Amino acid sequence: MSTHLGAAPGQIAPTVLLPGDPLRARWIAETFLDDAVLHSEVRGMLGFTGTWRGLPVSVQGSGMGQPSMAIYVHELFSAYDVQQVVRVGSCGALTERVAVRDVVIASGACTDSSMNRLRFHGLDYAPVADFGLLRAAYDAAQRRDDVTAHVGLVFSGDTFYNPRPELTEPMVAHGVLAVEMEASALYTLAAAHGRRALAVCTVSDHVVTGEETTAEEREQTFSAMVEIALEAALG
Ligand code: ADE
Repeated sequence: MSTHLGAAPGQIAPTVLLPGDPLRARWIAETFLDDAVLHSEVRGMLGFTGTWRGLPVSVQGSGMGQPSMAIYVHELFSAYDVQQVVRVGSCGALTERVAVRDVVIASGACTDSSMNRLRFHGLDYAPVADFGLLRAAYDAAQRRDDVTAHVGLVFSGDTFYNPRPELTEPMVAHGVLAVEMEASALYTLAAAHGRRALAVCTVSDHVVTGEETTAEEREQTFSAMVEIALEAALG
């Protein structure tokens, strides 16, 4: 056991899918994995281990935002020897080049969080995805005809209800595609531990047009994204 995960050593697979919502973790385990077993429910942050095409894989809820996610990912890397983490989440589109229901594969992540500023003593670090996972996810997305995938920068914001949304405009002018809340710290932690990480996000809402997906559409595109994540990590 580690402080925030109830799993015994060896109960978590080297590959972990990481949704923010613990109920999504249960849904992924029940929908995509064989023989899934609950290994952690500390604070209701559910984690399961099963197999996909015969290969071991875990799925762990991480909560919302970088501080929560970083607790779970730190413990996955340091206490369970996890080798690769693929975040499967949602994001808001920041540009009309990206539409709701599309998938954004984050090649790198900008942020307004102080986590990296503290870690790098005020210098700007550039958190990037693992290239092998990124390429495999893009290839898996290209093989499908039910999703449009974009590879590019995301903005990992600390504030969902942002009182100053105009502050991200220069980011958009410099190629940032979407806003989410975890990728920057995830990529930084993976680099610190010498592990692999990728964030794949479905576009649930459009910050420019105000369009939102229905619950049914979210489930459909979430399924496609989970399959892309599993193929990238294990295919
Ligand atoms: N995740 C999904 N939509 C988001 C948004 N608009 N801002 C931050 N995170 C998100």
